Amino acid sequence: MDALQIEGGPPLVGEVKISGAKNAALPILAAALLVDGPVTIGNVPHLQDVTTSNELLGRMGVTVSIDEKMRVTVDASTIAHFVAPYELVKTMRASILVLGPLLARFGQADVSLPGGCAIGARPVDLHVAGLSQLGADIRIENGFIRARAKRLRGCRLVLDTVTVTGTENLMMAATLAEGTTIIENAAREPEVVDLANFLNVMGARIRGAGSATLVIEGVDRLHGGSYDVLPDRIEAGTYLLAGAITRGRVKVRDVEPAHLDAVLAKISEAGGEVTTGDRWIQVDMHGQRPRSVDIRTAPYPAFPTDMQAQFAALNSVAEGVATITETIFENRFMHMVEMRRLGADIRVEGNTAIIRGVPRLTAAPVMATDLRASASLVLAALVAEGRTQIERIYHIDRGYERIEEKLNALGADIRRVPA
Ligand code: EPZ
Repeated sequence: MDALQIEGGPPLVGEVKISGAKNAALPILAAALLVDGPVTIGNVPHLQDVTTSNELLGRMGVTVSIDEKMRVTVDASTIAHFVAPYELVKTMRASILVLGPLLARFGQADVSLPGGCAIGARPVDLHVAGLSQLGADIRIENGFIRARAKRLRGCRLVLDTVTVTGTENLMMAATLAEGTTIIENAAREPEVVDLANFLNVMGARIRGAGSATLVIEGVDRLHGGSYDVLPDRIEAGTYLLAGAITRGRVKVRDVEPAHLDAVLAKISEAGGEVTTGDRWIQVDMHGQRPRSVDIRTAPYPAFPTDMQAQFAALNSVAEGVATITETIFENRFMHMVEMRRLGADIRVEGNTAIIRGVPRLTAAPVMATDLRASASLVLAALVAEGRTQIERIYHIDRGYERIEEKLNALGADIRRVPA
């Protein structure tokens, strides 16, 4: 297992090209199962989870090819199995996203129940309940979701909780169902909209993406085509915070500023000068210490849970005291314990962390626990005095393409070492 060694140091200055969004690429790769013909997907990030997705499709007999530009071409016409095995699902929960497409297109799916993960139990009851309402016969046995359906029938679904992949699974299943499906209380994330756009390019009839009510008119088949994945707003937000925490100036390119409204508002509140343009965002701290900002996570368009840990790092060295309240996942504060090892003054009470900014953090060996927690440790290490070593950085490689390369280009001193 590798580790990252980071020397706390100077303000970061420069530009970063943002990669395609992991959380759009994963559902779109799964949606390729719905398409009758080859599909080429561009702007796919080079991440472990994408590799796992391609391996999962390949195991089913689906033809997957990748060109030198990381464009992935998927042709499901060669599919031979409809199984997502535990050994792959346990490494990537998002494998659950093949359930809806397999059921809608091929009438069968045996998908291993994704276990919990570090940040929470992560149930999939809403995925299963919705597919049952669409007419699937679903049994949970031996750790598998065994789903069968002759043809799904459209209906009105009301989701108890806003669920991103739940919305995506049900939207995908509804594209080939008989009749119209309405999904109420749908997730509004840009990645859900990107998936809907992809499906519509392939001939689906989805309206309302980005709102809480989706209307999907079932069609008989989806045709092939090509599509580029949208930019990763969470990667962009993470690099902007790298600039903010080091009191520097960072510009991220190839992004959609509108997808980061809630995050940019908080960076401004922390004292960052935020400017935006066509597909770029810049944050300039003018060498100033950030101010503490209160954070409360909630579904899009409110403040994203995937940026919560990064703001915990910023607040740790900011002027003042702030609270961070996590309303989406029940165990997404593990980075707080690790940050205390760097000298942060953090108290946790239930789902709220109270963070009193300290003038400086000091280096110490720390351990990554989940994807975004790892990113927050990298941010803290960029300003901690001395050399911080972060263990178990395979978590980082799941969501950040070439993180040390991109940070070194901004002036950081970060290297990957065998641990
Ligand atoms: C997606 O996870 C993202 N993953 C997560 O990103 C992100 O943090 C999360 O949405 C919230 O924005 C992908 O898109 C691949 P949810 P997902 O279903 O869909 C409860 C990252 O860092 N729930 O929106 O699994 C659930 O327990 C990852 O890239 C049910 O109760 O999250 C949670 O409390 C981490 N039953 C809440 O809903 C269900 O059937 C929201 O979860 C489904 C969800």
